Amino acid sequence: MSAFSITQLMRPNIVSLKPYSSARNEFTGDAEVFLDANENWRDFVRDSGLNRYPDPAQKSLKQKIAKVMGLPEANLVIGNGSDEMIDLMFRIFCVPHKDKVLIIEPTYGAYSVFAAINDTGVSSCRLKENFALDLPRMEAICHLVNNGTPQTGMHKMLFICSPNNPSGNSYPLKDIAMIAQRFSGITIVDEAYYEFSDKPSAVSLMESCPRLVVLRTFSKSWGLANVRVGIAIAPLEIVETMHKVKYPYNLSGVAQELAEEVLNHADEVAQNIETIKAERARVAQQLRSLPFVEQVFPSDANFLLVRVLDPDNVCLYLRERGIIIRNRSTLRGCFGCVRITIGSRRENDILLKVLKQMEV
Ligand SMILES: Cc1ncc(COP(=O)(O)O)c(C=O)c1O
Repeated sequence: MSAFSITQLMRPNIVSLKPYSSARNEFTGDAEVFLDANENWRDFVRDSGLNRYPDPAQKSLKQKIAKVMGLPEANLVIGNGSDEMIDLMFRIFCVPHKDKVLIIEPTYGAYSVFAAINDTGVSSCRLKENFALDLPRMEAICHLVNNGTPQTGMHKMLFICSPNNPSGNSYPLKDIAMIAQRFSGITIVDEAYYEFSDKPSAVSLMESCPRLVVLRTFSKSWGLANVRVGIAIAPLEIVETMHKVKYPYNLSGVAQELAEEVLNHADEVAQNIETIKAERARVAQQLRSLPFVEQVFPSDANFLLVRVLDPDNVCLYLRERGIIIRNRSTLRGCFGCVRITIGSRRENDILLKVLKQMEV
């Protein structure tokens, strides 16, 4: 299967798709009177162009992302959260009821949900007990799943979440590279929590791994979860196809403006990341001293995975006191585990105080 090109991995109906061409796509240049898109001439809410369709190519935002984040502008696709990017990838590559994807568990649950929505099977490889990649097993699995054909169905995509949700650890770049080179489908590295890690980004692997796509989001370190802005950094053939398949106006003008605005605050964002990392170390240390905490796993993200004696009881106890954490104990390899987001110093103090009062 290694002979397949990126286009050959795509669904044939997508390769031959003639995309919808919006009014704003077709026009470039200056004009005074816009009567081409059946918009309302009135803007009732603010006087800031809310009555007009937004730029479907998000040109201005892309330029700013490229500049501030140091990412290659031509390789960017922007959408309604990285969740949209994940769903788009399924719609582009996976023939429903035939193709499959590979995930590495425990990991972000949405990969399997989007697979189910797109009627795509999921094969799973386990992480080691300490949540490290099991390289010999990954190699063997890649070898096994590379055997598909368009007739029988193929494993089209492999999701590597690094730093991984819910375990919090990131994987060595050389291991990601090794896997991406062995796997003959598209490897997607989800870097939603990348900014909280000191490890390098998989974007640097894109030259040596031609079928690699990296995902980033404005929902975590950039503090815009409500606005819904996600980024894919992808090879040009995939960028072109994602633009063909996405909703023409998938990102509102308001979202584009707000994402541009937060990029003006990059220094403040960087400072806040340092604060969160310091808090992560403080909270981890204090949690380790609690009698019912068995293990606090090292984290490169803005959360901690914590193994406790009785996760249901800890979650219930906290909920009764107005504190919500995430019970992850039913996930593969996560027995006894809860996931705790690092909040403000005040929020973290409340959590720690309440936990210290808990009777075992
Ligand atoms: C690993 C991972 N990827 C993607 C997402 C979704 O991000 P977005 O808000 O950009 O859709 C999340 C959200 O929690 C996540 O944990």
